Amino acid sequence: SKSIKIAIAGLGTVGAGVIKILEGSKQVLGHRGGSVAEVVAVSARDRSRDRGVDLSAYEWCDNPVDLAGLDTVDLVVELIGGSDGPALALARETLKRGKAFVTANKALIAMHGRELAELAEANDAHLRFEAAVAGGIPIVKALREGLAANTISGVYGILNGTCNYILTRMEREGLGFDEVLQDAQRIGYAEADPTFDIDGIDTAHKTAILAAIAFGQAPTLDGMPIEGIRNIAPVDIDQARDLGYRIKLLGVANRTENGIETRVHPAMVPVSEPLAQVHEATNAVVVQGDYVGQTVYVGAGAGEGPTASAVVADIVDVLRGSGGPVFGVPVAELQTPVTEEVSGNPGTY
Ligand code: NDP
Ligand code: HSE
Repeated sequence: SKSIKIAIAGLGTVGAGVIKILEGSKQVLGHRGGSVAEVVAVSARDRSRDRGVDLSAYEWCDNPVDLAGLDTVDLVVELIGGSDGPALALARETLKRGKAFVTANKALIAMHGRELAELAEANDAHLRFEAAVAGGIPIVKALREGLAANTISGVYGILNGTCNYILTRMEREGLGFDEVLQDAQRIGYAEADPTFDIDGIDTAHKTAILAAIAFGQAPTLDGMPIEGIRNIAPVDIDQARDLGYRIKLLGVANRTENGIETRVHPAMVPVSEPLAQVHEATNAVVVQGDYVGQTVYVGAGAGEGPTASAVVADIVDVLRGSGGPVFGVPVAELQTPVTEEVSGNPGTY
């Protein structure tokens, strides 16, 4: 059967996880995608590092951008991270060549999503980023495909595994912030620069992407109030618990009469609410649609296996030839987001 040749840029937590799945499940993925996915080339910084996977059969590129130009490569998977630098250069180069581009990089899609979607459309190339939001939960596919019949009025949830892990362990074990953050980094949940997690920027990137797909607008952080969990102390968590609440960092996107409102902030969630039962690195997303009503998605939001699972789902999509507009509507139809703060009701989510 047909074979799709894949290059992987970035061999850290997620990149190594993707290679493990692709090499370990070749036959079943071939059946699901109708073609065989074959890794042919890779790139990372340190060629000598042991990553727990055998790389000897793959071509090595020191510069990840070179992967796009290899004649043997049909699909590039970007798992380096960062909204600019090599990730952006690689995305542009891949899409310009009409090749498929799959990424877990929410910063890249939130900051350059419109430009990259234009490039994908102009060059008839696939651009997929399921792993960029809520790790293993297939929320991008749910919004773009499963809920396509609906007008969405709101989407919100717990979108950062690191913060939820920190809040959970602070509450359960009375541990300090820094101690738990180090554990989150060791397990592979945190961003390369963990201030993106704890200051709410990562949740903002994900909220911008959810808003783009839910409301057909270009992704942006402009006009989004963003507050993280840096200033939450154990005493805040204790007081919330005494009052019957848990503190959760939420990303919120709502349709309002003034436009689309997006925001990121810690919220007091009543313990009786499903979101309060979401612990450790689990994420949860709530979507309100006019025909479907409310749907709720819960699952692992970070870490090697869950994130690689979502990346491989995108690869299988490309194998199948599943197309459709990147953000659910053609780029020319994407609304220009309101870039001033849209005032909502900060007491609610
Ligand atoms: P890691 O830091 O574990 O891995 C990053 C990889 O990129 C490393 O292999 C590194 O090389 C490589 N790299 C960095 N700079 C360069 C460069 N200039 N040229 C070539 N390679 C480079 O990150 P993760 O795997 O955790 O994350 C990857 C992406 O996935 C990010 O966009 C992240 O936001 C996203 N993501 C991560 C999740 C997670 O749970 N970890 C969940 C969802 C998304 P070397 O190993 O040699 O240093
Ligand atoms: N650092 C991110 C998190 C990874 O903790 O949620 C998943 O996007």
